[in-house]
Amino acid sequence: MLWHSNPAARAWRTTAAPAEVFAFHQALDGYQPTPLTAVPALAAELAVGQVLVKDESQRLGLPAFKALGAWWAIHRALQDHPRTAELIAATDGNHGRAVARMATMLGLKAHVFIPAVVSERSVEAIRSEGATVTIVDDSYDAAVVAAADAVTGNSLLIQDSAWPGYEVIPQFIVDGYSTLFREIEVEPDLVVVPMGVGSIAQAAVTHYRSGPVAPAVLGVEPASAACVTASLKAGEPVTVSTGETVMAGLNCGTPSSLAWPVLRSGLDAAVTVEETEALRAVEDLGAAGISSGASGAATLAGLRVARERLPLTSASTIVLISTEAAS
Ligand SMILES: Cc1ncc(COP(=O)(O)O)c(C=O)c1O
Repeated sequence: MLWHSNPAARAWRTTAAPAEVFAFHQALDGYQPTPLTAVPALAAELAVGQVLVKDESQRLGLPAFKALGAWWAIHRALQDHPRTAELIAATDGNHGRAVARMATMLGLKAHVFIPAVVSERSVEAIRSEGATVTIVDDSYDAAVVAAADAVTGNSLLIQDSAWPGYEVIPQFIVDGYSTLFREIEVEPDLVVVPMGVGSIAQAAVTHYRSGPVAPAVLGVEPASAACVTASLKAGEPVTVSTGETVMAGLNCGTPSSLAWPVLRSGLDAAVTVEETEALRAVEDLGAAGISSGASGAATLAGLRVARERLPLTSASTIVLISTEAAS
């Protein structure tokens, strides 16, 4: 297990996402806040007051939280690039599907680049949205490079990770994720988020370091794709090699350049989990009636392995962000 903690993170402050993001989502057809479900059995197991699961298994008609970021970013980016005919994205599943769905709704073309490790089922789900799919026989990082290389004059890259020179649209995506946190009306002591490139964690830290409620934020990664935790430990962004993991949405080798400074300063702790730990968490959340895929259930796995290192009491309220449905 890799573990990193930053005691100074709690006092760090930043600026909140624009208020109009929440209004945009609330005006969408089919918008509903996702449930925040108490799981008393987990509270008892972990000797805390409450464990609440923010359940993103159904969000805007898709089985993951990703449309919140992609759809706001497409809306904002098209204001700046009104002549766009095609949207391009790389994905390990959920983001690409959300981009493809919105492209079809707007009458635009979508071209989605997918690393070879992604399941045939996820690939078919993206094709079924009407997108052109290119399988990249390599990692997620390589699929992002291929997507960026495919951009031409009338196409727009909608990527949920940033790098130097490509940061405007990824920031829109992170702004879009703010809605998930704005919906949470309780005042937690700890919020646990999964980390791929760190964009959803960036949104969590931004939300909880810009308003009146300042819980600790714990980020969780697969041991086999721990780019953010490795970077935090190294004190600078590092790239790790990736292979296969059941936590497909977290299978990323390089932190987002926008997420990195925010997580370095404002993330309280990061921890890695093993495959078996994530799968057990999928089962346990399923038994509690919550459909949660391994990328989302990783939060429960991370809470379990980090429990003894966290300053929790029998009165603590914990929110787990379960980012996708079980597959
Ligand atoms: C279900 C799920 N959870 C979590 C993540 C991680 O998000 P990020 O890459 O912003 O850290 C992803 C990213 O694809 C995902 O699909």
